[in-house]
Parts: sequence; structure tokens; C-alpha cells
Amino acid sequence: MVERPVGVFDSGVGGLTVVSQLFRILPQEDIIYFGDTAHLPYGSKSKEAVTRHSLNIANFLKTQKVKIIVVACNTASSFALSSLREKIDFPVVGVIEPGAQAAIDTTRNFKIGIIGTEGTINSRAFEEALKKIDRNVKVFSQACPLFVPLVEEGWLDKPETSQIAEKYLSPLKDKGIDTLILGCTHYPLLKELLWRIMGQEISLIDTAEATAKAVERRLGEKNLLRKGNRKAVYKFFVSDDPEKFLQLGRRFLGKSMDKAERVNLEAME
Ligand code: DGL
Repeated sequence: MVERPVGVFDSGVGGLTVVSQLFRILPQEDIIYFGDTAHLPYGSKSKEAVTRHSLNIANFLKTQKVKIIVVACNTASSFALSSLREKIDFPVVGVIEPGAQAAIDTTRNFKIGIIGTEGTINSRAFEEALKKIDRNVKVFSQACPLFVPLVEEGWLDKPETSQIAEKYLSPLKDKGIDTLILGCTHYPLLKELLWRIMGQEISLIDTAEATAKAVERRLGEKNLLRKGNRKAVYKFFVSDDPEKFLQLGRRFLGKSMDKAERVNLEAME
């Protein structure tokens, strides 16, 4: 079991921000990554569709003999985590609980903001996770649907992106939050812009980092951490053309990938 890889999935390239944190925190672990590029974006899809795709991906990851599944996508974590946990008999870690815990550990005034896709915000998954830890916390949410395409376009510091961000974030600014959860795989790439708009004093919670730490804890509890110094192996799979994934993925991963293999997800149903 210990020698098996860590399975990670997302709707596309965004989950590579979680993989880059896993590289840092768990460099000895093999990783199998699946990006569901044929069905992205998940952020504007229904709970039923996202859950169906997530279960198919989990079936694929099972065929790869992974020891844990990391749901790197915030929308899939919001919608499909409980269905996945019902169907999978080994650990499944999503981004919501680690992100919520990190926010509660950080806030001083217990006013926390959440930004994410429409799906993530409408699901209220972060809100529920925060209230479960501390029911007195005040939570303010804002969907930012234009951020994903802007980040994928590479428009990280264009004036247009700044204007859109101002518009999305001004209601949160008015609420006096001191902590903001970046509830989407793409948002860590916007950190500089978000600090500029929200002020340097705001704590930005990177769910990718919190999740990688939660994976380390979970594997430790289950005695599943890989030891030894064999070089880790990384494999990337997608459900559509690998070329665009490889091109775009570099920015999210912080390094280039040699190859990605295409898999027919429908065959997993
Ligand atoms: N990965 C998604 C998330 O974190 C963003 C991209 C999408 O909408 O598919 O919610």
C-alpha cells in the first residue's frame, strides 16, 4: 500500500497548484494526476454533472491503484466529496475542510471571506465547514466566475482584471474581513492582485497548500507515507487533447511536464 501513488484530480489544469504543493511537502510520493479537460469548467455545472464526472475519475484512479484520492478541485470538493467517500474505501481528501481549518486558525476578528466559482459559492460548502468548526464565525461569500478564464488567458496583471477584481471584492472589503479563502484552484495565481486590492494586512488562505498538508497528515495517520529515496514518479492524464494541458499546465505547476496521456472517461462509467 505504502508504495502506491497519490491520486489527484481536477477539472483541468487548476489542480496542478495542489500538485506543486505536494511536490514541496511530500517530494517522495508518486503522483497520478487526472485533469478532466473534456468536461471543464466544473464551476458553472450542476451538482449532478460534477458528481458523475468525479465518480468516473475516481474509478479511473482506482485502476491506477492509488492509496488516497485528493480532490484538488474546489467545485468537485463542494459537490461530490460525500458521494466519493461513500463509494471509495480508502482515504479521500478534499480542499474544503483543510481550507476552512486554515482560515479559522488564521482569523483574529472571525470575519472570513470566501471567493470561488458559482458552484462552490452556491453549494455553501465552505460556509458549512467553517460554521462546523466555529459557529460564531461570520462568513461572507462572493462568486468570481470571470477569474478562471482570466487566469487561463494569463491576464494576471492587466487593468481589466484589476477592475473586475475591484468589482467582485468591494462588498467583501466593506464587511471588514481579515481573512480571505481562495476557494478555487486558479486563485493562488492572483495573490499579488488580491493583496493590492484587499490590502497587505489581509490573510489569503491558499487551499492548495492547506490541502497538501492535510494529505501529509492523513497518510501519516494511516501509516501510508512513502519512505526511502527512490525518485518519485509523476504521471499526468487528461480526457481531451493533451497539448493545451501541457502548455497551460506549466504556469500552474511551476515547471513543465514531459507528457500527458489521454483517457476515455466515459469508458469508466
Ligand atoms: N478547478 C475549479 C475549482 O477549483 C475551477 C475551474 C473550473 O471551473 O473547472 O473550482
